[in-house]
Amino acid sequence: MTANSAENQPNVVLGVAGGIAAYKACEVLRRLTESGHRVRVVPTEAALQFVGAATFEALSGQPVRTGVFADVEQVPHVRLGQQADLVVVAPATADLLARAAHGRADDLLTSTLLTARCPVLMVPAMHTEMWEHPATQDNVALLRSRGIVVAEPDVGRLTGPDTGKGRLPDPAEIVDLARLLLAEPNALPRDLEGRRVVVSAGGTREPLDPVRYLGNRSSGRQGYALARVAAHRGADVTLVAAHTADLVVPAGVRLVRVGTAEEMRATMLKEASGADAVVMAAAVADFRPVELAEHKIKKTGRDPEPLRLTKNPDVLAELVRSRAAGELDTAVIAGFAAETGDPSTTVLEHGRAKLARKGCDLLVVNAVGDGQAFEVEDNAGWLLTADGTERPIPFGSKSRLASTLWDAVSEQLAAK
Ligand code: CTP
Repeated sequence: MTANSAENQPNVVLGVAGGIAAYKACEVLRRLTESGHRVRVVPTEAALQFVGAATFEALSGQPVRTGVFADVEQVPHVRLGQQADLVVVAPATADLLARAAHGRADDLLTSTLLTARCPVLMVPAMHTEMWEHPATQDNVALLRSRGIVVAEPDVGRLTGPDTGKGRLPDPAEIVDLARLLLAEPNALPRDLEGRRVVVSAGGTREPLDPVRYLGNRSSGRQGYALARVAAHRGADVTLVAAHTADLVVPAGVRLVRVGTAEEMRATMLKEASGADAVVMAAAVADFRPVELAEHKIKKTGRDPEPLRLTKNPDVLAELVRSRAAGELDTAVIAGFAAETGDPSTTVLEHGRAKLARKGCDLLVVNAVGDGQAFEVEDNAGWLLTADGTERPIPFGSKSRLASTLWDAVSEQLAAK
């Protein structure tokens, strides 16, 4: 890393409050520094009961202080907030949320929160009872009303034998949200609160015999990013996932696994019922083998028989047809188009034709091939709407693309 690139590194303050999930802040810190962020850790006194200052200092390469009376000549209680490009508090305990909501400045972290003018991401972690308590819910609502992003806690194992809502989301998810806010400070409004959305992801596999299938290279990352961003914008999210890479299930999202295109079709039609918006991000195989061999197909001395394929249902087109027939009342149906373009037709022209053919309300067009879109972290494209408007989606993370699509979905929902 060059000295010059260090100057260009975003300044992140990582606040750590005193809960058992504080140990996961080390992983968040590690991931942030490894992805090129300069991180100053500001724990509360209670956080140091869980993780020692030496760990945070060693991992960040920066001093760790909790109070406002250390290094007073550098006025850290004002400087840290002023100089930050992003403040992330993970975990944010019930006590920290309460102190932040009420504007307390009784330690370095809360003082930093009062002086920060950059995006602030709070990632709560606590027992379910504490999360659900009206005092905490009021504090969260107050913080959100002031533009602070309070992430949705995950559901799962808590301290001890308990399970429920209140678990810290996976560190990879926290870092993804942090990077999203650095790139686009307004990416996580609460505009999908009270909305139910269904997203499909991954690639279907069409079996040939008990051990072989026809598949594709979709990793599911774009669909997972869509589900994650929608959940943190307040939606009730169902993620229908075909085969994917080993991905973290986003916090608060209901996951339904499917295998084949036929299973995807049946599940999407069922889940779309009563949903406000449906996004088909899955790579659904267009064809499947006509025959499914009951036993493994064995080698013989001769060449194998050619594979006979038959068409799979087009799930996106069927969702649109069901709505037209009055069987679905989903307000917004969106799809993706993976296009390579060819000598006579550009990627965008293929996209426009596909939007018309499928009849959906929104279509994200991605250029694929040459290492673009599939199995990679970043994505770019165009967002086309049925009324003929189009906007370019700049190169950025799949979460950023997701937030651009949810902006458009949210606009259309508000207009209905
Ligand atoms: N799609 C679907 N069912 C299929 C194929 C695709 O629902 N059997 C959806 C995808 O989830 C995506 C959109 O349709 O949202 C476009 O997918 P894409 O593979 O780009 O298009 P195809 O329909 O396969 O068209 P073509 O083969 O002409 O590119």
